[in-house]
Amino acid sequence: MDLDTHLPFFNDLFANRCTTNSEDLNRYGRDETEDLCFPPHVVVKPETVEEISAVLRYCHEHRIPVTPGGARTGLSGGALPVHGGVLLSMERLNRIIEIDERNHQVTTEPGVITQVLQEAVREKGLFYPPDPASKGSCFIGGNIAENSGGPKAVKYGVTRDYVLNLEVVLPGGEVIWTGANVLKNATGYDLTHLMVGSEGTLGVVTKIVLKLIPHPTHDLLMLVPFREARAACEAVAAIFQAGITPSGLEFMERDALIATREFTGDDTLKIEADHAAHLLIEVDGHDPDGLMEECEKIVGVLERFPTDEILFADSTAQKEGLWSLRRKVSEAVKARSIYKEEDTVVPRYQLPELLDHVKRIGAEYGFESICYGHAGDGNLHVNILRGDLSDQQWREEIPSAIRELFTEVRKLGGTISGEHGIGVVQQPYMDVMFPEVTLDLMRSIKKVFDPRGVLNPGKIFDPVV
Ligand code: LAC
Ligand code: ZN
Repeated sequence: MDLDTHLPFFNDLFANRCTTNSEDLNRYGRDETEDLCFPPHVVVKPETVEEISAVLRYCHEHRIPVTPGGARTGLSGGALPVHGGVLLSMERLNRIIEIDERNHQVTTEPGVITQVLQEAVREKGLFYPPDPASKGSCFIGGNIAENSGGPKAVKYGVTRDYVLNLEVVLPGGEVIWTGANVLKNATGYDLTHLMVGSEGTLGVVTKIVLKLIPHPTHDLLMLVPFREARAACEAVAAIFQAGITPSGLEFMERDALIATREFTGDDTLKIEADHAAHLLIEVDGHDPDGLMEECEKIVGVLERFPTDEILFADSTAQKEGLWSLRRKVSEAVKARSIYKEEDTVVPRYQLPELLDHVKRIGAEYGFESICYGHAGDGNLHVNILRGDLSDQQWREEIPSAIRELFTEVRKLGGTISGEHGIGVVQQPYMDVMFPEVTLDLMRSIKKVFDPRGVLNPGKIFDPVV
């Protein structure tokens, strides 16, 4: 669309907080999803709710696409302006408004970096657990949009479980609060939780009230090498069946760790030739003796599996080193090859079968994959490497392979995205998960909020045009 006639409106409202410089547009047209780039026509950087409301009202009136954007760490293209138009960057709404220690709550703007928020509440002895791998750069607003998870989700839940109330600017410019700052709420439809995970398609979140919990005082971390990747997946459900809920239970295939060691240049971790996969297992709590007992129980469970010597992290630095290695897997794989990152989830006990399907389909279609992820949640990130696949294979055959994989996931009782969202890249597969009647319900909800389809168009179910 031609936006030139509308530029004076944005220039007047934002002056030097508005850019049409092509380098900027390209930067705001990318996130961490594959190698996609959809530059907007203009980027604006509001500082107030009133400015956001004015932009949405104007865009609604003139039918201009407007896409809210965060820190651009997304993995499904949810914040990419696929139809151009206005990119509404939330980066200047970056204040933590209040940490309410009496009620264990924090009120924040969406442009606060998740780790900054976690550290601020930590100083008061409080804990905001959801911790996506990108926590050092992603925004809490983006976490709300995608309902982010991360390693702690296995014990503490995902972003949605902590959101109590949201201030939202609707596509027509009206400003609402979705709920109340309370722990229970049975008052009408739950708009708060509808907004979480709606990928910026229903409204623009401008204030967020989150629940906090007391910060655990102790944790223990172990890295367990397995001689068979399938056995590592089998051990996951066995740990829970022994009555333990770890605060982290991560799976990494051999190649995930090797790629990350290469990427970081840190080769302190020894990976033997017969180490097919690792589990990174953390327990946390307030009672150190209790945690030791939990570790002993876990070790007891692991004796039934083909493991090698377990590494127990014996210092904070070593724990941080292991977690940092885990958090860098995605970046490391990306550095190796263009790839498609699938975010499959199955009921935990079905994880070994999911891994079998990935490898079987990979062999059939001739692609290499690197798998890792939040095994305790049954959430496996499947990275399909482009390697030397031809254009035709990458564009036509791999989507068929993904469809086949998702169909197996569905049969196992799972779903096609656990924490990365649908965005642009997963929308061709929504029909694997839902019949038309369900998709129509979702489309109808979108229409109620955004009858003109101006807010973050082309996401979740609409094809990119
Ligand atoms: C991770 C991101 C990719 O778990 O979700 O590393
Ligand atoms: Zn993840």
